[in-house]
Amino acid sequence: MDSLRVEGGARLAGTVDISGSKNAVLPMLCATILAPGEYTLGNVPLLRDVTTLSSLLRTLGIRTHREGHTLRVDSTGVVPNEAHYDLVRTMRASVYVLGPLLARFGHARVSLPGGCAWGPRPIDLHLKAMEALGAAVRLDHGTIDASGAPLIGTRIDFPISSVGATGNAVMAAVLAEGKTVLGNAAREPEISSLCEFLVAMGARIDGIGSGVLEIEGVAELHPADAVVIPDRIEAGTYLVAAALTGGDVTVRGARSDHLEATLAALRSAGVEFEERGGEIVVRGGGEISPLRVETEPYPGFPTDMQAQLMTLLLFGRGKSEIVENIFPDRFKHVPELNRMGGSIRVEGKSAFIRGVGALTGAPVMASDLRASAALVLAGLIASGTTRISRVYHIDRGYERIEEKLAGLGGRIWRVRRS
Ligand code: EPZ
Repeated sequence: MDSLRVEGGARLAGTVDISGSKNAVLPMLCATILAPGEYTLGNVPLLRDVTTLSSLLRTLGIRTHREGHTLRVDSTGVVPNEAHYDLVRTMRASVYVLGPLLARFGHARVSLPGGCAWGPRPIDLHLKAMEALGAAVRLDHGTIDASGAPLIGTRIDFPISSVGATGNAVMAAVLAEGKTVLGNAAREPEISSLCEFLVAMGARIDGIGSGVLEIEGVAELHPADAVVIPDRIEAGTYLVAAALTGGDVTVRGARSDHLEATLAALRSAGVEFEERGGEIVVRGGGEISPLRVETEPYPGFPTDMQAQLMTLLLFGRGKSEIVENIFPDRFKHVPELNRMGGSIRVEGKSAFIRGVGALTGAPVMASDLRASAALVLAGLIASGTTRISRVYHIDRGYERIEEKLAGLGGRIWRVRRS
């Protein structure tokens, strides 16, 4: 297993290009199940999760061919085979094949997912949405077995905002008979871009981005081409890296309108930056002010930026607090940051961070994707060497992270393990 070695102390400077969004492209790939044919997706990030999902889709008869950041998908031969545990367990987003398979074939068998290490990751809201649309859903030795044709449009009010459940419900409803209304639907840009892709395929969806989606079922859909939106979490991660190292960095290709809560938090922490046409220029080096932030569904402060912000607040002058409202115990990075000299105390949903102003390098272990990113950021600023093991967690969601950081002057190397 590869590891990353980071030597702290470099001030980042220069320009970094943001890749396409992992959480946008994964449901779009699954949407190709809904209509047989050839698709061309642009700005597809080079990520482990994309490779993993492509392998899963291949077991369903879908062929993919990558040409740089363009991915050609041919779903002509898709068949409703079972989505097997060995692939599904490594990536929770695999559950996105459930809705499309059920909508297209009236039947789906999908292994219960695995995914990141923290807390239980239930999919009850996904399954309840399929049942609401008229499917019979049962658990068969660890595999979800859902059947029902045709699906019948209905109103579904999600008790909590769920990105995945919203995506699955939309992909099931687009071929249902009649109208489906999804209340408390996720407003994340990745779900809006999925809806726009489905509309390009001939679906009828109103209220995109509003929290209430109205879907008029159609008899069939057709392939469409699309360009994947930029990854707002990757962008936020590089903004924090710049602020942390006091560098002057241009983050290019991000969409500021997808980053409003993140930019507001960084501005409140004293980070100076300016936005101009697809670029965000960070002027690092100012004092970091303490902050209290709560993670919320979009457009609130994203849970996927929680760990990265925590690293920054270790350099705040005073006490900060981050409340993690989305996932129970998404604080796996706290013990590792404390081993690097951080002073963070977790009480329930809150992490209390005391600005220590310095960190020391240490051997640490990556756990979930964003916790790992926070450890890389900490290594950039820590004195001495930080070695991050199990770096495959990072490769799931960050394209060529060591190349991009080294391109900004970061002293970071991948140590390949046979
Ligand atoms: C998506 O996960 C993202 N993954 C996550 O990003 C992100 O952290 C999360 O949304 C929240 O924004 C992808 O898009 C592939 P949820 P998802 O359903 O869909 C609970 C990353 O780093 N819940 O919005 O799994 C759930 O436990 C990853 O890129 C249920 O209770 O998240 C959580 O507490 C990590 N029952 C809350 O809802 C369900 O059926 C929000 O989860 C589904 C979810």
